[in-house]
Amino acid sequence: MFYETSARDKTLLPRDPFKAIVAPRPIGWISTRAPDGRINLAPYSFFNAFNSAPPIVGFSSEGCKDSATFARDSGEFVANLASGDLLQAVNLTSAPLRRGESEFVHAGLAMAPCRVVRAPRVAEAHAALECKVVGITPLKTARGEAIDSYLVLGEVVAFHIDDALIRGGLFDTAAARPLARCGYQDYAVVESLIALARPPGGEGRAAG
Ligand SMILES: Cc1cc2nc3c(=O)[nH]c(=O)nc-3n(C[C@H](O)[C@H](O)[C@H](O)COP(=O)(O)O)c2cc1C
Repeated sequence: MFYETSARDKTLLPRDPFKAIVAPRPIGWISTRAPDGRINLAPYSFFNAFNSAPPIVGFSSEGCKDSATFARDSGEFVANLASGDLLQAVNLTSAPLRRGESEFVHAGLAMAPCRVVRAPRVAEAHAALECKVVGITPLKTARGEAIDSYLVLGEVVAFHIDDALIRGGLFDTAAARPLARCGYQDYAVVESLIALARPPGGEGRAAG
């Protein structure tokens, strides 16, 4: 099958497969604190790492949602690790609550303080990245038309890691069981890893 994006045959593909193809996507579980003290928590699967030294992560908000608004206004956010054991809670925090109504309470989660940024982190999360906003980029189409979507990038200025998941000096990703978003209503959980050394000479030259 081939189609240009604007000409998908909706009888053959009634639902857009884009997010099922760009899958699995890590989930940034973004907690923020507005300057007036309101707290927000929501999952973002348009989320990834974009640089390693310094570490930079980003999430994209389709529409200027509370997470992007609070990150912009406070200059800070926290990317909490969404994991398989927290699947139901992650989903609950995507509910469209009234602004100011706490997703932490709604999902039965506890807040834990951060040390460098003022936003709280998810106490139950096995890792959390404290971030300072480095830029917010409104997205555009290839024709230069504005889209109501915003890529929020943040430098990771501090790490919280569950000590139980540090084994032999390494973070045990498989034991953390990170949650990933696939297409439609699907999620994946990373539970096994494949170790493979980079080709000689490649180490340290390219990221990833
Ligand atoms: C797993 C998951 C991933 C999501 N990823 C995104 C995303 O990348 N961008 C986005 O705009 N909304 C995403 N959403 C929807 C938001 O979480 C939802 O609109 C939420 O209410 C936004 O909350 P906020 O306004 O408090 O930031 C996702 C929802 C789920 C369940």
